[in-house]
Amino acid sequence: MPEEMLYEGKAKRVFATDDEGVLLHRYKDDATAFNAKKRGSWEGKGKTNATMSAALFEYLETQGVPTHFVDQVDDVTIRTKKLEMLPVEVIVRNIAAGSLARLLGFEEGRKLKAPIVELCYKDDDLDDPMLNWYHFRELGVADEDLAFCEELGLRVNEILVPFFDEKGVILVDFKIEVGRDKDGNLMLADEISPDTCRFWDKETGEKLDKDRFRRDMGGVEEAYAEMLRRVTEIKERGAVD
Ligand code: TMP
Ligand code: ASP
Repeated sequence: MPEEMLYEGKAKRVFATDDEGVLLHRYKDDATAFNAKKRGSWEGKGKTNATMSAALFEYLETQGVPTHFVDQVDDVTIRTKKLEMLPVEVIVRNIAAGSLARLLGFEEGRKLKAPIVELCYKDDDLDDPMLNWYHFRELGVADEDLAFCEELGLRVNEILVPFFDEKGVILVDFKIEVGRDKDGNLMLADEISPDTCRFWDKETGEKLDKDRFRRDMGGVEEAYAEMLRRVTEIKERGAVD
């Protein structure tokens, strides 16, 4: 049966499978930024995003975090549970950068007193604005779902900060998404990759994420390959131990 494409996004395609409850997410080498006003592409991006997401979802599952991850099919493809997505982007920040640095007038790199969670409305036409609970209520998103998003974001942060620290990487901030399975269970979805996180090298402060593309810094292909190496190397070592 030919694969049926359900959705084509900026950086991935989603396909139906023979199993109604399972999808394929195939990551592309394409990149966009600033809501697709800027476009690019580099070799190995799809592989890094698929493989890093797979490794991190697997690790988070071992730490008790429910995710949509089923397995990795090939370099650029993962199998996931089919979910109904909440229209929410959950951002968690440890260090001021990007839009938070602008919002609060902080210098990029300022350590935050405690992690900050932001909830954004997933709507490209509106540029994914940050909203509060009153706005989300108006849009029909339940308070308990927002509470789940915030708690999940903080829990993922607690797990991933030390995980990346061990690899010599500071987890500056990241974005996750949440969906509901057919039984009503909410879980972590989408991807966790250099597209959706800020990673800074602990020793040098070098950026190892999509900001290299957003800000035309060069070395973006190398940065993605380096992050993939650091994440999968530890996984392989862990398997030997
Ligand atoms: P920001 O500082 O631009 O708001 O980004 C915060 C984090 O969210 C950063 O790690 C990059 C990630 N992010 C996405 O995953 N998708 C987006 O569309 C944007 C704007 C940010
Ligand atoms: N992913 C978003 C876009 O396409 C924004 C970003 O990551 O900067 O434009």
